[in-house]
Amino acid sequence: MHTFITGAASGIGKATARRLAARSTIAVADRNGEGAEAVAEEIRAAGGQAQAYTLDVTDPAAVKDVVARASSDNGPIDALFNNAGINIRGPLLNVTEDDFDLMMNIHARGMFVVAQNVLRGMVERKSGAIVNTSSDFAVIGVPNLGVYCAAKTAIYAMTKATALEFAPHGIRINAIGPGPIDTPILRQNRPPREVETALKANAERTPLGRLGKPEEVAATVDFLLSDKASYINGQLIQPNGGAVIW
Ligand code: NAI
Repeated sequence: MHTFITGAASGIGKATARRLAARSTIAVADRNGEGAEAVAEEIRAAGGQAQAYTLDVTDPAAVKDVVARASSDNGPIDALFNNAGINIRGPLLNVTEDDFDLMMNIHARGMFVVAQNVLRGMVERKSGAIVNTSSDFAVIGVPNLGVYCAAKTAIYAMTKATALEFAPHGIRINAIGPGPIDTPILRQNRPPREVETALKANAERTPLGRLGKPEEVAATVDFLLSDKASYINGQLIQPNGGAVIW
């Protein structure tokens, strides 16, 4: 098995790369090339197979090139974890058009471009599984996160449409909607003095009273990409501690 993971140098992507390495060769793709190389090296040192690729998912030519190189390096891509992402938070009145474009470019457009490149091969082989990282914020409204919510809802919408479109080709496509997971993104674009309060507030919004671990999300992705989930398609599965139930 050959699994392609974006945003694999950190957090949820990294935990998933480590976990899936037990049963798959991993293409560790991230715009942070050094971080990707470190994850691939760690997997190889533990006896697994992994190759790092520097990839910014907002660059369609680079996506085409890296997907082609990964396929040539380690064979056809059987599974895709479309996961790269950032967060820009703040009052909507302060969000710039550039911020908006960047969020949509990384999340919605980036995931579309990566999926399109990987899906061509999956359609030829009539098999494959994809998991897209959405968020539990795809299905609720959150103040100061309007653009993030919009980007994650777009991913969920594309997951549903493509799940229907590609099911006849033997390909399953699902989304995950993690709750607050303890990764660098929760600290991103926040002044250091606000981080502790924000982490506490995030923990408190879950009935379990704590942040999730990236490994707990990785377990969900592992399941969805495996044959154990062979009849699950087009769903938003939420490893979120019950933070959002709908
Ligand atoms: P993280 O910050 O630890 O990891 C994100 C990774 O994506 C980083 O390695 C970063 O370099 C990479 N990345 C960012 N922009 C990229 C681009 N243009 N091209 C390629 N790689 C890029 O954060 P985390 O939490 O692991 O995030 C992974 C995904 O999970 C994101 O899509 C995020 O929106 C989503 N998510 C995270 C939640 C959380 O609470 N941590 C909750 C719900 C969703």
